[in-house]
Amino acid sequence: MEVVILGSVDDVDRTVADVVESVVRAGPAVLGLATGSTPVGAYTELARRHREQDLSFARCTAFLLDEYIGISTESEQSYFTFIRDNFVDLVDLDGASVFSPDGEAADIGAEARRFDSAIADAGGVDVQILGIGSDGHLGFNEPGSSLRSRTRVKTLTEQTRRDNARFFATPDDVPHHVLTQGLGTICEARHLVLIATGAAKADAVAAAVEGPLSAFCPASAIQWHPHVSVVLDESAASKLKLADYYRYAYEQKPSWQSL
Ligand code: GLP
Repeated sequence: MEVVILGSVDDVDRTVADVVESVVRAGPAVLGLATGSTPVGAYTELARRHREQDLSFARCTAFLLDEYIGISTESEQSYFTFIRDNFVDLVDLDGASVFSPDGEAADIGAEARRFDSAIADAGGVDVQILGIGSDGHLGFNEPGSSLRSRTRVKTLTEQTRRDNARFFATPDDVPHHVLTQGLGTICEARHLVLIATGAAKADAVAAAVEGPLSAFCPASAIQWHPHVSVVLDESAASKLKLADYYRYAYEQKPSWQSL
């Protein structure tokens, strides 16, 4: 696990965009896309590189982490719409190659299994972008989630419903249930890039990176993974005990070694 602490949110966005760009330029890539406000700056930077530097996503496939149950894919609040508006429509990624769990499927259990199979059939995710919830969730894997879970239904905590209420007309409109990739599913991606910015994420980041590996902090599951980059601004890193060591290790990073 490599922890990268950067001086500004712009630096975070550029660094994450660099990782995605190198995978995309290397060949047909399978991208794992996260919703939430945190990765939007990186998506905007990738869209700029598409416009100005010929970065093409035409050969990419993308999988979303999660979706609300009972919200149609086309609705304004769906995560599919969020990714379409904040990334897919800004680049040349074919909308037909972007997949999200169907929160309106008649058989939700079958849909969950189908989604895991679709990821596997695509060859697995090359690079998975992740945000983190203030309660330490990844995707929508709330505290208590099995560290090896597969895509399935989860019930949102009240804290997560409050955090996400800004995307809905009223807080009561936030669904209680979601379909989310499991922690086991997420950890099958070849490279995890967890992004966090702002002081509100500092406790969750510290628990994920330096706390015990525990279902109590689902994001701590990244500690199992052989290739994780945790990209933070100073505020999100402010509660890390080993922050000075992470900065030193990043400064000493050999020039031939990328994230
Ligand atoms: C939602 C998403 C997560 C995301 C989290 C944090 O709950 N399901 O994937 O990481 O929000 O969002 P934000 O980046 O807006 O803080």
